[in-house]
Amino acid sequence: MTTTLITNIGEIATNDPALGDGSPLGVLRDAALVIEDGRVAWVGPSASAPAADEHFDAGGRAVIPAFVDSHTHLVFAGERSAEFAARMAGEPYTGGGIATTVAATRAATDDELRAHTRALAGELLASGTTTFEIKSGYGLDVATEARILRIAREFTDETTFLGAHVVPAEYAHDRAAYVDLVCGEMLTACAPLSRWIDVFCDEGAFTGEEARRILEAGIAAGLLPRLHGNQLAHGPGAALAVELGVASVDHSTFLTDADVEALAGSDTVATLLPAAEFSTRSPYPDARRLIDAGVSVAIATDCNPGSSYVTSMPLCIALAVREMRMTPAEALHAATAGGACALRRDDIGRLSPGAWADIALLDAPSYLHLAYRPGSQLVSRVWKRGIAVVG
Ligand code: NIG
Ligand code: FE
Repeated sequence: MTTTLITNIGEIATNDPALGDGSPLGVLRDAALVIEDGRVAWVGPSASAPAADEHFDAGGRAVIPAFVDSHTHLVFAGERSAEFAARMAGEPYTGGGIATTVAATRAATDDELRAHTRALAGELLASGTTTFEIKSGYGLDVATEARILRIAREFTDETTFLGAHVVPAEYAHDRAAYVDLVCGEMLTACAPLSRWIDVFCDEGAFTGEEARRILEAGIAAGLLPRLHGNQLAHGPGAALAVELGVASVDHSTFLTDADVEALAGSDTVATLLPAAEFSTRSPYPDARRLIDAGVSVAIATDCNPGSSYVTSMPLCIALAVREMRMTPAEALHAATAGGACALRRDDIGRLSPGAWADIALLDAPSYLHLAYRPGSQLVSRVWKRGIAVVG
């Protein structure tokens, strides 16, 4: 078995408090790391690094766990730049543009969707993301939802059935029939292609009762639940998420004190999507209130053509720090270990023995530069399962 030693690491964030300075980020300086069989085999001070077959000199630069993007809508066709421009001129975001993307996606061929997804997945990887989730939700009919998930599975194991994104126009006058379809024929077609089920429980999308029915049907079909909630208004999403023990409630902007308290006492992660607030010019979620209450927090891109056409986790980190008052350490943790937790994974999002060697090398002496130098391409090399895939 070939072993690779990354030497001369100026600073490494491991996300293992036992390994580093005792902080959740587990930071070590002057460090080295050994990769064996795709996994991290050893991390520690350079001076005590074991021998290895191959060496890579990090040149005193910073190393971090590759990002885990736990929330994307990567499979879609078309774009909505005119809608973005209208928002920047004062129009509010309502989710009404989802219908535009549904029409374009239904009309696209598999090869068109595949090529577009491949381009976006390439952007994710180049910016340091080695694990990403993909949701359906731009088909909203049985065939197109299944088609989206089939293509999504070519790129990731973390696929999510989001047939309950919004009620499509053809069911506008019989939403109960659409909920029946999602819980019935659509779920039957999509469950074998998915690990997760998600519902958009918010103003203009699905009610708490509809969301409960859909999530319970998904759970009965063997899927793990997650939820889009409390993006546009206060509502039942977060409380329902905690009640059903969902892995993550995503957006989490409009929360009551009772919602925050319930989340703090639960295993449900609050996944914050600051690029969506940036791109819709909406109020950012109150990350400090959540973290200070003890809620587990993740950061993800929400990459989609409407509310957040963003693939860069470094940009999300910069926004989380500048606009949501997270510390750079909290933001990096949320974009790595937090994302892993939101996907219920313990084999990624950390650089300690046993984890996959999913690693990003920064062209910077410290991870602090991710927020300090927004807009610069700092990720210079990426390893996925021990193989260099970028740089
Ligand atoms: O997560 N909130 C619901 N869905 C997406 C946006 C979808 C769209 O506008 O196309 C989101 O922000
Ligand atoms: Fe989303």
